[in-house]
Amino acid sequence: MMRTWPLLLLVAACQAEPVPTLDPTLAQKYQASCAACHETGAADAPRTHDSAEWSRRTRRGMGALIESVKRGTTAMPPRGMCQDCDDAHLQAIVEYMIAPQ
Ligand code: HEC
Repeated sequence: MMRTWPLLLLVAACQAEPVPTLDPTLAQKYQASCAACHETGAADAPRTHDSAEWSRRTRRGMGALIESVKRGTTAMPPRGMCQDCDDAHLQAIVEYMIAPQ
């Protein structure tokens, strides 16, 4: 019985992998620009932290996701409506959004 402990600790450590979080500046940008659609799923926006909804998109890679945010899609305005987000901001926000929680 005692021999299973190291394995359990390992599993616990893996689950404690840091989930990307947003610093206050990014959180403010996310709330102001992305949350309205991506928290509610408005217009079929993939919901933040909903891995089922994100999985088919994340397969295309982070680069492709960032490109479509920058360009916009039929239902999403260019830069996700965040005019003062640079590419690094957008990437950090997208990493947060696609992270399961
Ligand atoms: C007006 C609503 C709206 C806002 C605001 C918005 N999105 Fe979106 N977003 C959508 C919708 C709807 C989709 C799905 C579009 C599609 O599949 O054509 C989407 C898709 C995406 C995708 C996936 C793109 C892909 O290629 O699959 C990412 C990443 C994303 N949004 C990030 C963001 C970020 C980051 C912000 C804020 C800076 C943001 N969105 C703001 C509506 C919005």
